[in-house]
Amino acid sequence: MTTLHELIDLARLGGSARNGQPWQYVVVNTPELCAKIFPYLGWAGYLTDWKGPVEGERPSAYVLCLLNKTRLKGPESEAQFDLGVATQNLLLGAMEKRIGGCRIGAFNPQLASLFDMPGHLVISLVVALGKPRETVIIEECKNEDDVRYWRDEHGVHHVPKRSLKSCLLNLGLRE
Ligand SMILES: Cc1cc2nc3c(=O)[nH]c(=O)nc-3n(C[C@H](O)[C@H](O)[C@H](O)COP(=O)(O)O)c2cc1C
Repeated sequence: MTTLHELIDLARLGGSARNGQPWQYVVVNTPELCAKIFPYLGWAGYLTDWKGPVEGERPSAYVLCLLNKTRLKGPESEAQFDLGVATQNLLLGAMEKRIGGCRIGAFNPQLASLFDMPGHLVISLVVALGKPRETVIIEECKNEDDVRYWRDEHGVHHVPKRSLKSCLLNLGLRE
């Protein structure tokens, strides 16, 4: 099995509402097709002066995540939960193999027009994969109102996460 198929094998095993498992995946790993896909992708929206990875540092593979509407057993919102589970499995498996990954939700829907796409399939998410180049630091938010990731002068990518305290809720009970 190829590495990319191994990762999709992890994705497919994730929990699924009503066990519907409505997701299918297209593996893209040729340089030609990767180059065609790149212009459709939106990178790091908070980094307004960064246009995304430069040539030579771009992803070497993509996994396109397609919703197969004929496999839906409930509302589409449930399927989107499943996709979060599936892609987390995929990305954790990739990390274990020292492959970096990023989900890209901000893609131009015209991406579908590159493919001979049957009407029951919809691209919902693109997972970009490749050799990690950046150093990423996960850190606690300094200000809970500002969750924007940022790059420092050394190009290190900082990702502020809300504090545990701010994620814990203590609700009073009704009488
Ligand atoms: C559903 C989803 C969609 C995302 N879409 C994009 C995207 O379009 N472009 C991008 O550069 N990053 C995207 N990301 C990556 C997030 O920006 C990233 O997960 C966030 O900054 C937290 O960083 P971390 O994943 O390193 O913890 C997406 C993440 C998720 C979960």
